[in-house]
This record gives sequence, C-alpha cells and structure tokens, in this order.
Amino acid sequence: MNTLVGKVAFVTGAASGIGLGIAEALAQAGVKVMMADIDGEALAREVARLSATNADVAGVRADVSLKAELQRAADATMERFGKVHILINNAGVGGGGDYGDWNDAGWEWVIGVNLMSVVWGIEIFGPLMEAGGKAGGEGGHIVSTASMAGLVAAVAPGYNATKYGVVALSEGLRPKLAAKGIGVSVLCPGFIRTRIMESARAVPERLAGKVALPDASALPSEFAAMAAQAIQNGIDPLYVGELVVEGIEGDWPYIFTDNQFESGVDLRFAAIKAGFDKIRGRTPRY
Ligand SMILES: NC(=O)c1ccc[n+]([C@@H]2O[C@H](COP(=O)([O-])OP(=O)(O)OC[C@H]3O[C@@H](n4cnc5c(N)ncnc54)[C@H](O)[C@@H]3O)[C@@H](O)[C@H]2O)c1
Repeated sequence: MNTLVGKVAFVTGAASGIGLGIAEALAQAGVKVMMADIDGEALAREVARLSATNADVAGVRADVSLKAELQRAADATMERFGKVHILINNAGVGGGGDYGDWNDAGWEWVIGVNLMSVVWGIEIFGPLMEAGGKAGGEGGHIVSTASMAGLVAAVAPGYNATKYGVVALSEGLRPKLAAKGIGVSVLCPGFIRTRIMESARAVPERLAGKVALPDASALPSEFAAMAAQAIQNGIDPLYVGELVVEGIEGDWPYIFTDNQFESGVDLRFAAIKAGFDKIRGRTPRY
C-alpha cells in the first residue's frame, strides 16, 4: 500500500504502548484511525491528546477477546469513517505463565486476547477491506503484533503458544490475501517501553480473580528482573509505530524492531535442522 494519506485504520490495544505508538504514527502519516481498547479511561485520554494535534481519530471501548465486542467496534468504525483499509491486531497481554501456573481461566484470557482477537479481527475486517478494495481499488493491509516470543520460545510457553499462532496465521494468510489486494505483515517486537508488565490491569471482569496472574512473579525471578529492566529501558513505542508505517508502505512480511534476538532465531533454526539431520538418508516406511 503505497499511499497512506486519507486511508482508514482500526487499531486494537491503542490506549497504551505499541498500539498507541502505531495509532500515533499512522495519524501522523495522514491516516484516520479508530482506536479500540478495553481501558475506556486511558482510551478517552489518548484520543483527546491525538485529536488536539488535528489527527482524525476516534475511540471505541471493546474487549477484543469477545467476538461480539470486536464486531460492534467494526460497526462503529464503518459508521464513523465509512470504510477501512488497515487492520492492526495489536492488543495483547503478558499472561499464560509457565507449567505449574496454568489454569483454564488463564488460558481463556491469554488465548482470547492474544490469538482469537487476531483470528476474529481478520474474519470481521477482511471482508470489509475486500469490499473497499474492489469498489475503489484501494487495497488493504493487516499487521498483527506477535513478538520475538513468537519465533523463539523461552520461559513463558503459554504466551509463546499464542505468539507462534499469530506468526503462523500471518505467514499462512499472506499469499492468500495478496491475491485479494490485502498485504499481511507480522510485527515481532523485541523489548519495547510499555506497560506490558502491568497486564493484570486488563483482566476482563468475567475472569477477574480466576486468572493466575501474569505479572513478573509468574516468571523465573532472574528472567523477570531482566525483562522488567529491559522493558523499562526499552525501545520507544512511537519508533515502532513509524516502522509499522514503513512496513505497510513496503509490504514487509516481517516487521522487526531490532536485532537483539536474531541469534536466538538462528539457534532455533539450527536445532530444527539438526532434527532433520538425525533421519537424513533413511527411507520412510509407508
Ligand atoms: N512491550 C514489549 O516489549 C512487547 C514485546 C513483544 C510483543 N509485545 C506485544 O505488543 C502488544 C502490545 O503490548 P504493549 O507492550 O504495548 O503493552 P501495554 O500493556 O502497554 O498495551 C496493551 C494495550 O492493550 C489493551 N488490552 C489488553 N487487553 C485487552 C482486551 N481484552 N481488549 C482490548 N484491549 C486490550 C490494554 O488495555 C493496553 O492499552 C501485545 O500484543 C504484546 O504481546 C510487546
């Protein structure tokens, strides 16, 4: 998608961190933005702040782990802006924990926010983008926020499972949607300066008190301390937003924020390759 000016975007998790950075960078590029978030107060504050810069933005409160709320947010977007070209599936929570911390409510939460909202976002917004594309030849683009934790699994396998899912969905849909004029990118951030370590604030009411909390105490303490420090001193979310704008314009399959975990990806691929080496030369029995 080479011209972003005048296009319409829908961004989830837009009241804080990376989603807010993406919404702001899109608005700076001349895109009209519908910002969605479960945190109505922060959303109202950020919509007002961006509106004061003459950005054409609006907000809709939605818990994206509920399909009906995502559908209502899509309806509100169409009502406000008439069409939609860019979908940013960004909302996510640091939950899921490690073996020993799992319970069903925790899985419902982390899979609902991190993975099902992406599935439903594409299911609901895909046809709207296709319709706009066909009518006006305007095309579309989907960016879903995974993580480097969607390419390398370390200490939070619950979170990793959802983020690997987002990478798989994006990779799998890219050729299919290219044929319909819709680009697909997966954003895999490293450590970004956001409130992700405070994800407990976003536990939906229906799961309150049932979710094994996702905070640093669910992680091995050494890693938790390192991650908390790295996030506190992390990359500026607006810089990530600017990379996302570039990624949409250039139709990048993968949008990375830095090279910190590149060697981890190399190690994973080497381990996979070593698995193939174990059976090289054997003839399978059919
Ligand atoms: N911060 C990092 O270092 C980092 C690294 C890799 C990936 N990510 C991913 O980036 C995305 C954004 O996280 P962030 O770091 O900006 O955290 P953040 O906590 O600052 O922002 C997340 C936003 O999502 C919203 N949200 C949470 N649950 C929601 C729900 N059910 N419905 C609607 N909105 C909801 C929150 O209210 C918040 O405004 C997530 O998908 C996260 O997994 C973050």
